[in-house]
Amino acid sequence: MCGIIGYVGTKEVLPILMGGLRLLEYRGYDSAGVVVFDGKRFRVEKAPGKLQVLASRVARKPLEGTLGLGHTRWATHGGVTEANAHPHLSCDERIAIVHNGIIENYVELKKRLRRHKFRSETDTEIVAHLVEEKYSGDPRAAVLAAVRELRGAYALVIAFARHPDRLYGARLNAPLVVGLDSTESLLASDLHALLPHTRRVAPVEEGRVVELTRAGVRSFDLDGREQPLKPFEVEWSAEAAEKSGYSHFMLKEIHEQADTTAQELQGRLDRARNEVVFEDLGLDRADFRRVRRVVIAACGTSWHAGTATKYGIEEFARLPVDCALASELRYGDYPFDRHTLMLAFSQSGETADTLAAVRMAREAGAKVLAITNIRGSSIARESDAVVYMRARLEVGVAATKTYTSQMMCGLLLGMQMGRWRGMITGAHMGVLMKTALQVPGAIQRVLEDVAEIKRVAERFKKGYDFMYIGRRYNLATAYEGALKMKEISYLHAEGYGAGEMKHGPLALVDDHLTTLAIAPQGRVYEKMVSNIQQVASRKGHVVSVGTDGDALLPTMSEHVLWIPAVAEVWSPVVSVVPLQLLAYYTAVALGRDVDQPRNLAKSVTVE
Ligand code: F6R
Repeated sequence: MCGIIGYVGTKEVLPILMGGLRLLEYRGYDSAGVVVFDGKRFRVEKAPGKLQVLASRVARKPLEGTLGLGHTRWATHGGVTEANAHPHLSCDERIAIVHNGIIENYVELKKRLRRHKFRSETDTEIVAHLVEEKYSGDPRAAVLAAVRELRGAYALVIAFARHPDRLYGARLNAPLVVGLDSTESLLASDLHALLPHTRRVAPVEEGRVVELTRAGVRSFDLDGREQPLKPFEVEWSAEAAEKSGYSHFMLKEIHEQADTTAQELQGRLDRARNEVVFEDLGLDRADFRRVRRVVIAACGTSWHAGTATKYGIEEFARLPVDCALASELRYGDYPFDRHTLMLAFSQSGETADTLAAVRMAREAGAKVLAITNIRGSSIARESDAVVYMRARLEVGVAATKTYTSQMMCGLLLGMQMGRWRGMITGAHMGVLMKTALQVPGAIQRVLEDVAEIKRVAERFKKGYDFMYIGRRYNLATAYEGALKMKEISYLHAEGYGAGEMKHGPLALVDDHLTTLAIAPQGRVYEKMVSNIQQVASRKGHVVSVGTDGDALLPTMSEHVLWIPAVAEVWSPVVSVVPLQLLAYYTAVALGRDVDQPRNLAKSVTVE
């Protein structure tokens, strides 16, 4: 969850490190630090708090050199203090290290290394001392020997004062990407931090150590045998990481959804054959015909996208679907077999629990298809097949455009599975495709009229508790709307199946609770109306999300947030947009840090 960057080249390194950390701050923002080799020794500057605190320190006291490491921290071991911030140094201060992950055997290693002088409470510092212990003139050999003794998850970057022409990286279960250029080499936890310097990148493979010099990068397995890197060109430009005039990344990303949902359809709808086409999928029609059931593995917002997709696959492909929380699935006894298809939903492609579920399914003989936004990510590399979203870089910690992209991909896939399995006709698919094309325009209309959403936000900011209810496809919207509200406004909100209200939560209805009912037209509209009435007749406050022109909802709701009419299957892609905006405006009204909400980080690479 921490952000890391390392550089060796010919340029002054401090601006490169600080620029990289700015792009990585969304990964963790408890504290930050940099180390630069000044020609004689390592000079470290670190500070608890946001990156800005470090930035003002280094502005007063710039560090000069062409080799350096930077880190932005999401604390796991040890409190948020200057001593615990990375980088960490060995006793002789000639080895510097930054780390993302958790060293699980750190207690045992610390005991063994007790003659070393520890300056922090972190598990990371142990690695600096371990490398020091192993060093006898050959830095690569020392890194390999140390890494062989580590258990847990790590992306490490290590520099040696005695070898200032090189840098080392090591990776196990935590992301690490190298950037390749003719005169410099870089390492970072996210590829977009490399984009201001190069678009040619290569993921570091699991269990590998990389050696970076100005001339290039070499990769080694833990036995020291050289292994090939697999570089590729990134399509995103560095501007993807700019706010482009919006006050927050989240607002920018919400507004991008008319375009990103259109991108998801671009070139994928074969109107002549009435089929959805996924480029380089990695599984074919025969694989899909073998499938007897589907299990979706995901966490958080991605799990909500999976919840909507479940209904799509069941409706169109007529296959049973379990939508499982990856953190539960991985410790359960799910009966995977070769007729099971796992769909792994993960924006980052690095979520530790989802990755563990993928490995578990594959070991048990199931096929895994990932839906992710990040090329070269762990989940993409470890799955049998991948559908890449086209959401481009998402910086706001709260997922928005990747959620709607994930649902577009999942629902399109569900429809095509229906075609492959002979469950829907070409004509039916033709109609579904036509309705899909209405989604971007419908989102655009929601984005153009936010007056009522802002009014509700003004009211919500004084609120206490919020119950978001929905059914079928829009159960996902209830879950996701509530998650957006709680994660960025810090107000208590729950997502619930509307039909479940009478089984318990109706007892909560009073003046302090607002029920937000997602009730667009569709198969369960009338059921939603009954559920709303059950709340309204107990004098509960109701805000609804409804389809333009609905005359009934305003009679039982204090506010209605309108969405244009779209086919039911696409309704969760549109109905979530007013709720993303509602969460956003409520959080802004409360003065919250929208792009970097407290205690969270963008990519959850630890358990
Ligand atoms: C919430 C959010 C998280 C992520 C979750 C899974 O806005 O973004 O709930 O959805 O941490 O992350 P990925 O999709 O990267 O696996």
